[in-house]
Amino acid sequence: METIRDLIPPPHIQGIKHFVDYALVDEILRSKNFRQGSHQESQPFFGDSLLTIDHDVHFERRRLQAPLFRKEALEYYEHKELLPLIDKALEECKENRDETGIVRTDLCALVRTMLARISAVTTGIDDVDTPERTDAFRTYIEQLGTGATVEWSTEDHSEVISRILKIREGFVQEFYGPSVERRKKLIEQFRNGDLSEDELPRDLLTLMYLHWNEEWDEELPLREATLYLVASSQTTTHAVPHMMIHLHEWFEEHPEDFEKRFDRDFLKQAGHEAIRLHLPSPALLRIALEDVTLSNGTTIKKDERVACLFTPANRDKTVFGDNARSFNPYRETPNVKPWGFAFGGGEHTCIGRTLVTGLSARTDNDEGTDGTLVNIAAALYKAGIEIDPLDLPTYTELSHHDAYGRFPILLTNL
Ligand code: HEM
Repeated sequence: METIRDLIPPPHIQGIKHFVDYALVDEILRSKNFRQGSHQESQPFFGDSLLTIDHDVHFERRRLQAPLFRKEALEYYEHKELLPLIDKALEECKENRDETGIVRTDLCALVRTMLARISAVTTGIDDVDTPERTDAFRTYIEQLGTGATVEWSTEDHSEVISRILKIREGFVQEFYGPSVERRKKLIEQFRNGDLSEDELPRDLLTLMYLHWNEEWDEELPLREATLYLVASSQTTTHAVPHMMIHLHEWFEEHPEDFEKRFDRDFLKQAGHEAIRLHLPSPALLRIALEDVTLSNGTTIKKDERVACLFTPANRDKTVFGDNARSFNPYRETPNVKPWGFAFGGGEHTCIGRTLVTGLSARTDNDEGTDGTLVNIAAALYKAGIEIDPLDLPTYTELSHHDAYGRFPILLTNL
């Protein structure tokens, strides 16, 4: 099956200037002459969140959230939350054992379950614990994700927005509201001296209520939490299936490498390649703050919206070599990040990147972190993952995202 597809620009960005070269995309993303241009229709879900604000106010908000991604926080999330959760999700799969003793499941759904709780912990949503609660929570995140990326939806956009706003009320009632109430009480106890700062949860909602800014509206924490939940789960959920199918093909063509499926360095590089080739959205959009002339002479008018097509930019042969369009876990990219623009660039560069790729080059896992991609892939190989040869994966038809919708797998060693 075809596992690397060319981007077909969706209707939403037709008629605006497109940039596909690595150097020009880099120049636009880094430039102070542009502001965020994505998520204009999805304002009810993401409005005024970190992703949609710029410059000074963005810098302040980002600084407020930085403690969530310090080394000790990342170690805590990975060792105390992610690793047990991966095991728990695999354990629950055992219920799907068929008469031949093989476990059958869907990789997209499995990864979503694994990531749901880590998203909940970093955001500050409580009680995502039982399979039923996790299932309900993950369905809410998926729905909120549909609303937050409505720009790329193949359905009627206004219909999507009103449908998902209604669904969000259920999310607030069941998960968000009680979690906020608990945090407000804990913060009150801290202010009264009954609790030390260390005893407060380390998550986004606690940080926001602890450092409340009078300029924020009451619903901002809900939209910021929505950003965190959607940005942390949908992206990685899309990345893991791509990584696994590329590795499957790689091992078919290079059987001598099959033993490397437990080699964390090899998996790390494979993860970087998978996210370089498959981006989390069709384009990064920016709006010019003034008339701009780029280094190649292209002019962009004040208030003009431009599209940085980071899929072709991440396959730019001048940067990634002649075989840039193919998957190669041994690729060397001395001058650029191995994942190219997968985590964006400039001031909006992904704040959660280290959760995904781990800290620096460490791979022994005693200290430091390897990130979600390596940990999930290693656990899947340990469980004996095989792609179901009779039921091949299919791409999602619900949006223009480069993502699988169904990915049946066998776990032969559970
Ligand atoms: C494979 C996984 C991921 C990919 C490919 C990814 C990709 C991206 C990209 C491309 C952007 C920039 C968007 C733009 O410039 O318009 C971004 C921003 C962001 N990401 Fe991620 N992301 C991933 C995982 C995560 C995780 C685990 C979190 C957890 C908190 C996260 C939170 C965010 C947030 C809050 C922003 C906004 C940052 C800002 O505007 O300053 N992402 N991400």
